[in-house]
Amino acid sequence: MENIVEVKNLVKSYGDIRALEGIDFYVRRGEIFGLLGPNGAGKTTTISILTGLSRPGGGSVTCCGMDAAGRMKKIQARVGIVPDESNLYDELTGFENLCFCGALYGVRKKARERKARELIEYLGMGEFARRRYKSYSKGIKRKLTVAAALVHEPELLFLDEPTTGIDVASARTIREMIKELNARGTTVFLTTHYIEEAERLCGRIAFITRGRIVRAATIGELLAGAGNESIIEIALGAPPADREALADDIKKILPEAVVSFPEKLTVRLQAGRDVDLGRPIALFAARGVRVREARLVKKSLEDVFVKVTGVEADAMKGEKEKK
Ligand SMILES: Nc1ncnc2c1ncn2[C@@H]1O[C@H](COP(=O)(O)OP(=O)(O)OP(=O)(O)O)[C@@H](O)[C@H]1O
Ligand SMILES: [Mg+2]
Repeated sequence: MENIVEVKNLVKSYGDIRALEGIDFYVRRGEIFGLLGPNGAGKTTTISILTGLSRPGGGSVTCCGMDAAGRMKKIQARVGIVPDESNLYDELTGFENLCFCGALYGVRKKARERKARELIEYLGMGEFARRRYKSYSKGIKRKLTVAAALVHEPELLFLDEPTTGIDVASARTIREMIKELNARGTTVFLTTHYIEEAERLCGRIAFITRGRIVRAATIGELLAGAGNESIIEIALGAPPADREALADDIKKILPEAVVSFPEKLTVRLQAGRDVDLGRPIALFAARGVRVREARLVKKSLEDVFVKVTGVEADAMKGEKEKK
């Protein structure tokens, strides 16, 4: 399949600050690709170079089949850009803002007005579209910023942290919009520091930290690489009379399992391979210990992220929201 974006050994410095230390990645046409990383990792810098807004310090960058360096106009005719901060006009209404963006991209009057109305209807903005942009809530502002990047029907959409700092309902609308656009053929490149967002939306992810891409793969590959260890949590109806004896019995049927009791009513089994749940459950039944629930605890993308980047997931969230 064709790569719509290709980045090789991309370097960028701002004075003494090395924002990108030589990154490589590609985006396939038709996918939702996510650049996931903490504050200052180099996400915005990468987008601005890909869209021709900023020049690479070294390496090569192609976007929509063109060398991105110095091709801002040509690239921007084919891509949509949703910046991390709004680029719309306070004094214009929502409708006017959309039409203005369309005009900037050379969309003819009739076509841009039709597209603007279509987007407004899609977003359920109704009356809001006739009010000035400055009167909108943060969430509506962000939704309109996404719409503004779509008036010229780009083949590739860049979104820089599309849901950071907005309400849950608006974030949801934006995520649904991204999925629908993608289903209709638009390739999506987004940055985020929300691990769950990346997991929910993206087919492939690159982890970036301190100007380096530490891992790029599909969600499936990342999770498979998390290790094939199984963790089983068993909730008991009553605390076991003798924990040690119970642990010893479990060891007899599952010698490699690590048995622990994280809570009074919970037994945790960590085993190096897939475990047949039936055996420990039968054992508990034989000892008269009632089992309320048994579940397999899956490794999450968050575990993989922490392991691969060394960045704690909580630290990543906390930092950002302070902004
Ligand atoms: N115009 C600039 N001048 C100087 N340094 C900059 C500039 N833009 C970015 N940097 C620095 O480059 C590095 C990467 O910044 P960038 O904005 O690309 O990160 P980011 O991943 O988008 O972070 P955030 O999550 O905060 O948006 C940071 O150290 C940042 O301080
Ligand atoms: Mg940024």
